Amino acid sequence: MKVKPIFWVEGEVAILDQRLLPEKVVYIRCKRYQQVAQTIKNMAIRGAPAIGIAAAMGVALGVWKLKSARRLEERFQKICQTLTNTRPTAHNLFWAIERMKKRFYSHKNSSLPELKRYLQKEAENILEEDIATNRKIGENGKRLIKAGITVLTHCNAGALATGGYGTALGVLRAAWESGVRFKVIADETRPYLQGARLTAWELQQEGIPVTIITDSTAGYLMAQGKINLVIVGADRIAANGDTANKIGTYSLAILAKHHNIPFYVAAPFSTIDLNIANGQQIPIEKRPGKELAYLGKKCIYPQGVNALYYAFDVTPARYITGIITEKGVIEPPFKKAINRLSRRRQNG
Ligand code: MRU
Repeated sequence: MKVKPIFWVEGEVAILDQRLLPEKVVYIRCKRYQQVAQTIKNMAIRGAPAIGIAAAMGVALGVWKLKSARRLEERFQKICQTLTNTRPTAHNLFWAIERMKKRFYSHKNSSLPELKRYLQKEAENILEEDIATNRKIGENGKRLIKAGITVLTHCNAGALATGGYGTALGVLRAAWESGVRFKVIADETRPYLQGARLTAWELQQEGIPVTIITDSTAGYLMAQGKINLVIVGADRIAANGDTANKIGTYSLAILAKHHNIPFYVAAPFSTIDLNIANGQQIPIEKRPGKELAYLGKKCIYPQGVNALYYAFDVTPARYITGIITEKGVIEPPFKKAINRLSRRRQNG
């Protein structure tokens, strides 16, 4: 995909406004870290790795704009807190802010101009590393995509949701680039329509055949044998493999299990929260019910009716066939495998 979801330019953070896609390609030029926080909250940028990158760039931007080193630590903490308070579920957001904090504290005694450059460089490293990680995820997962199959995906775990390339869509891209030919079914993904607007747009640009369905169509297609594999992204994976992803993922996983269809999650290791033992401890974002009620500017619900909007759900590990990461495809029992790979990470 040629369009970049986010980049640093001349002391500003440029963020592609994903709410306007595919109709318009418009960048929001953030001059202050509070604007970056706002773009995360209001879904202009979304997808776990992408909001992690945005938060890191927001931290760098906040420090970049400081005119003096007066009360530096206090002001740095405030910047981090504002970006932390944007969305609660995606682990990559907290992981990226922690990484920026480490960089800050290891260079705290440098001059302010030096510190600014260190932080800006770190944010750009997070972005570049994410793209490289996505490519490895693609390489590791592409053997699962056999010629002639139909793959179902939910929401958007593509280039737009990451630094570029994508996780679930990265696997599909890598397979396609290797010459394997297959079809994709994309769930619409109510209410932000990440599947219909973003996944379909990305796949169309690659020339990968894609058909959009309503979220509730998946079971019917599975019953007819029309789906061979499900692959989705993740917002947070607990240490036992339980996975939070876009609302509706849990239902798909159960349907896939019932119909004997392999169900894969593709995610970078930074999505795994080793401090959370299981999915019940993952904080699930609840967004305003009125976001469900509007189709564009038009309210389609009766005035005054209640609407309940959980943005994510948790798929228990027992429904997951494998987790495709940059370190390889993790298979059950996940707890043991995640533990082993995380130790490998710590030891470099
Ligand atoms: O609410 P969103 O659009 O941020 O939700 C995004 C998802 O659920 C994605 O599947 C997930 O973040 C993985 S992105 C590689």
